[in-house]
Amino acid sequence: MLKNKNILITGCSSGIGLCVATELQNKGYRVFATARQKKDVDKLNAAGLESIQLDLSDSDSIQAAFKEITKRTNGKLYGLFNNGAYAQAGAVEDLTRDAIRAQFETNLFGWLELTNLVIPIMRHQGYGRIIHNSSILGMIPLKFRGAYVATKYALEGLASTQRIELADTNIKISLIEPGPIVSHIRENSLIAFEKYINYRDSAFSKQYEHVLERLKTEGPVMKGTLPPEAVLKRVIHALESKRPNIRYYVTTPTYLVGFLRRILPYRLMDMLLIKTSKGGKR
Ligand SMILES: NC(=O)c1ccc[n+]([C@@H]2O[C@H](COP(=O)([O-])OP(=O)(O)OC[C@H]3O[C@@H](n4cnc5c(N)ncnc54)[C@H](OP(=O)(O)O)[C@@H]3O)[C@@H](O)[C@H]2O)c1
Repeated sequence: MLKNKNILITGCSSGIGLCVATELQNKGYRVFATARQKKDVDKLNAAGLESIQLDLSDSDSIQAAFKEITKRTNGKLYGLFNNGAYAQAGAVEDLTRDAIRAQFETNLFGWLELTNLVIPIMRHQGYGRIIHNSSILGMIPLKFRGAYVATKYALEGLASTQRIELADTNIKISLIEPGPIVSHIRENSLIAFEKYINYRDSAFSKQYEHVLERLKTEGPVMKGTLPPEAVLKRVIHALESKRPNIRYYVTTPTYLVGFLRRILPYRLMDMLLIKTSKGGKR
């Protein structure tokens, strides 16, 4: 019975999180669709989802949300979909300590804290599925995405280690590797860029004009962009398959990158990435 399967999802105010929360609930799961901001929690509850506030950058908020969910579920949780994140844009040399710390607080430390709260529940009940929404940028770097790339590489490292540590349990860990997906990610990235990057005084100020242009563009900016349902399909497989995949590629760019990084020497891969990002448009 799916309605007895509780799933906790972070970052459900928009994009992939909203799509996955809505569709899993439609499918019959009991979904805890968490969101960072109170206004989105109210919106989600009004739309018929069971929403609780959870800000990944705030440990108290994570602990309070987890406590509330544990109470409502009598301590049973089938799945966790770690999803809430943002993409700090800006060249590595323009990243202040505060900027990269904030990026890690949300995209990595919050995910780790929540995962490690959930694991004892899963150990106790003897099963569980943990699905991390990583990225193609957990597989390759991309110009002006250093902070975000660093969090996704770190996530890949932690999740892969934890999967080995949990190999003798029935707790399965999967990583999803989306390429470009339609969502609010660029809008949220623009906010972080304007907050943390002193772009007018940067050695990259000219190229940042293209970054700003890209972040302000509505709709897909890249060939091969897919709707969030493409991720949903993999989340369902990771939840329902007896043997969930370790990694799920989503979008043609991810399959291409997965293949190329296996066959190309590092230098050639670099040359390709430099060529693709010429002009700073991407
Ligand atoms: N879209 C893509 O092309 C793409 C590609 C690869 C991977 N991904 C991954 O997909 C996931 C979802 O992103 P998306 O594309 O759906 O973008 P999105 O529409 O911007 O959604 C991101 C969600 O994360 C939430 N979030 C941000 N900071 C948070 C915090 N401190 N605590 C809790 N939630 C927070 C946002 O909430 P607020 O609205 O309150 O900020 C929003 O609900 C991310 O992990 C991202 O890295 C996306």
